[in-house]
Amino acid sequence: MAEALRVGIAGLGTVGASVARVLRDKAAELTRQCGRDIVVTAVSARDRKRDRGIDLSAATWFDDPVQMAEKADIDVFVELIGGDEGPARLAVKAALEAGRHVVTANKALLAKHGVALAEIAEKKGVLLNYEAAVAGGIPVIKTMREAMAGNAVTRVFGILNGTCNYILTRMEAEGISFDACLKDAQRLGYAEADPTFDIEGHDTAHKLSILTSLAFGTKIAANDIYMEGISNISQADIRAAADLGYRIKLLGVAQRTDSGIEQRVHPTMVPTASVIAQVHGVTNAVAIETDILGELLLSGPGAGGNATASAVIGDIADIAKSRPGFQHAPVFGWPAKELKPYKKARMRSHAGGYFIRLTVHDRTGVFAAIAKRMADNDISLESIVQQAAAPETQAQKTVILVTHETTEAAVRKAVEGITKDGHLTDKPQVIRIERAE
Ligand SMILES: NC(=O)c1ccc[n+]([C@@H]2O[C@H](COP(=O)([O-])OP(=O)(O)OC[C@H]3O[C@@H](n4cnc5c(N)ncnc54)[C@H](OP(=O)(O)O)[C@@H]3O)[C@@H](O)[C@H]2O)c1
Repeated sequence: MAEALRVGIAGLGTVGASVARVLRDKAAELTRQCGRDIVVTAVSARDRKRDRGIDLSAATWFDDPVQMAEKADIDVFVELIGGDEGPARLAVKAALEAGRHVVTANKALLAKHGVALAEIAEKKGVLLNYEAAVAGGIPVIKTMREAMAGNAVTRVFGILNGTCNYILTRMEAEGISFDACLKDAQRLGYAEADPTFDIEGHDTAHKLSILTSLAFGTKIAANDIYMEGISNISQADIRAAADLGYRIKLLGVAQRTDSGIEQRVHPTMVPTASVIAQVHGVTNAVAIETDILGELLLSGPGAGGNATASAVIGDIADIAKSRPGFQHAPVFGWPAKELKPYKKARMRSHAGGYFIRLTVHDRTGVFAAIAKRMADNDISLESIVQQAAAPETQAQKTVILVTHETTEAAVRKAVEGITKDGHLTDKPQVIRIERAE
C-alpha cells in the first residue's frame, strides 16, 4: 500500500472539528476507497486547551498556522479558519509555495485572492481544492470542473445562502414578517447576530463569483456583482407572487449575454412549479444550464459541520488518490494564467420579466397613467391587476404589474416616470422574474 497521506488541519471550529472526527470515524472506508491511509499529523487553532470533542494528542500542535503550513510533516494543508486576509490567506499561500496541496472551505478568501492562489498552485504542480466553499456539502465544483467536459455553460444560478432561504420559506409558509422571521432565525442559530452579510447578499455573491469563473473561464470578479438583499421583501410581495404562480427566492445568477456576463444577486420570482422553487429552508441548490446537457439541478445541505466536512473530505480523498507526476486539472477549470478578464454586462441591459407592485392614490386616471408609462417605454404587460384597498387604507390601492420580457433600463425609466407623476403613496417594489425549469 502507498504511504499514508499526512494531513494538517488549521482551524478546529465547526467544520475543522467535524473533519477531524469524520477522518477518524471513517478511517477504514477512506483507506479502502483511496488505497492508502489518511492521517492527521498536525493541527492548529487559537486555543490549545479548548475541548473539541476529539482526541488530537497524536497530532503536532501549532499555535501559528503559517508555521504549520511551512514546517509541519504534511502533504495536505486544510484551511478551515476563515476570513479573506490574515492567517488564512498567509497560511494558504505559504503552504502552496512550500509545494503542499491545499484544501479550503473559505469562499471569502477565494472570492478575493482565488486567481492569485491558483497561479501559485498550478506553478507548483499542487492541488487547491475548495468544494466546501460553494454550497457546503453539494458537489458542485467537481460537477462543473470534471463531470461536464465539453459542455458550454450558458447560465448558472442558485440558492446559495441557507439563512435567506430559511427566512423566505417561513415568511411564505407562516405569513409572518421579515423582521419576525429574522429574529427567530437568530434565536435558532440559523442567522448571525449581525446578519447583514447573509441577508444583503454578500455571502451569495462570494459563492457566485467562484461559480462564474468556473462557468465562463473568467477571472473572479466578486466586486462586480449587482446585489440586492431580501430585507425589503414583504408579505404583500409573497402573497402577490403566490397568486401569480411564483415563489420568491434569493438567487445568485451568472449568465452569458451579448454584451458580457451578468452576475447578479437579488430576490427573484421563480415559477412555483419549477424544481428550484421546491428547495425550502436552509437547503441550498445550484442549477447549471449548458448547451449539451440542458438544465441540471443539484440540491442539498449548504452548511453545517458534517455536510461541509463531507465536501472537505472528498477533496482530501481526491488528493490521496492522485498519482505523483500526473497533471492536475486547473483550479478554476482553465489554467489560472489563461482566465479571461471578466467583461461585465451592464445591469441596465438585463432582459427578463418583471413584477412591479405599486401603492397608489385611489383616484381617477392613475391606472391609465401607469399603463401609459409602460407603453411609452415599450413594455408589454402580461397582466395588470388593481387590488381592492384594505378598509383602513381606503385612500390608496395596490396595482400589480407583470411584464413580458423587457429590459431593466425600460422598467427603471417607467417606474421613475410613475414616481414623478405623483401617484405613488409608498416606495415602488420591483422584483425580477427568472426563467427556471
Ligand atoms: N460552518 C459552516 O457551516 C461552513 C460551511 C461552509 C463553509 N464554511 C467555511 O469554513 C471555514 C471555517 O468555518 P467554521 O464555521 O468552522 O468557523 P469557526 O467555527 O469559527 O472556526 C474557526 C477556527 O479557526 C481557528 N482560528 C481562528 N483564528 C486562528 C488563528 N489565527 N490561528 C489558528 N487558528 C485560528 C479557531 O480557533 P479556536 O477554536 O481556538 O478559536 C477555530 O477553531 C470558513 O471559511 C467558513 O466560511 C463554513
